[in-house]
Amino acid sequence: MDFKGKNILVTGGAGIGVGAGVREALHQSGARLILVDIDPAALAAAKKNYPDASCYQADIRSAQEVENLFRSLEIEFTAIHGLVNNAGVGLSKEAHIASEEEFDRLTSVNIKAVWMCSRHFVRLLLERGQSGHIVNIASVHAHATQAKFALYSTTKNAIKGLTMGMAVELGKHNIRVNAVGPGYVHAEQNFDLIRTWTDDPEGWVEKYRKYHQVIERLIDPIDVGHVVAFLLSEEARAVTGQLIYVDNGATSLLFNRDFTE
Ligand SMILES: NC(=O)c1ccc[n+]([C@@H]2O[C@H](COP(=O)([O-])OP(=O)(O)OC[C@H]3O[C@@H](n4cnc5c(N)ncnc54)[C@H](O)[C@@H]3O)[C@@H](O)[C@H]2O)c1
Repeated sequence: MDFKGKNILVTGGAGIGVGAGVREALHQSGARLILVDIDPAALAAAKKNYPDASCYQADIRSAQEVENLFRSLEIEFTAIHGLVNNAGVGLSKEAHIASEEEFDRLTSVNIKAVWMCSRHFVRLLLERGQSGHIVNIASVHAHATQAKFALYSTTKNAIKGLTMGMAVELGKHNIRVNAVGPGYVHAEQNFDLIRTWTDDPEGWVEKYRKYHQVIERLIDPIDVGHVVAFLLSEEARAVTGQLIYVDNGATSLLFNRDFTE
């Protein structure tokens, strides 16, 4: 895949999990990175490793900040060829226990911000008569879920619908919209979340790797990044409206493998 001369915008682009894999895969393919993140320290760290990247600090939950961001991007770039809606947050709490604030925080990042960034991106493309493509980061929780993840699963199923619907609406403009659904992607930050359902996060990850995936290795962030890059590329010109799982086969298992092997 060759992204030389292509500008790709990644939200949550300063992340150390999936965001890092998306960033690295696109960089390896020659893309010029446009990284947007709420966290200035993380952006500064990303800029050190990717000095050519353009970094923007914004809280994409805010309609005003998203508008300001796209106003700056419009001045800075004559074309933006791709948008990766990666920024997302988690919540490990039963739906009937969660507070209104928690619901709003989750949905504002995982759904509303994705829609707001996508609509500004599409409007810019249409105004300029350009083509570009969107990849949304969903999750295996769009396929099936676990206790304490009803609300997170809700947001990722919303992404599935938004992906499909926008693909239908935008095909006539040669704008493709797809999603990638990662399984468990290993990053240190996940241990805090896993601690909400087990006292032994390392042990849980090891069991997940061995028994709840078809391929017995942990998913590296760049495994997700490569599929994102493919979906943004011309090689995927016939693919739109799809949610592709990058999950080491987890969504194909009916039972944990310790039951059956
Ligand atoms: N890590 C996993 O195992 C996993 C699995 C399935 C899906 N996902 C999805 O992948 C995406 C990335 O998750 P991750 O955990 O790998 O994180 P990540 O390491 O890619 O970091 C996400 C980034 O988003 C930024 N962000 C959060 N809220 C923001 C806001 N309001 N405005 C701007 N930036 C904001 C954070 O500062 C962070 O740098 C999310 O959509 C998540 O739901 C992750």
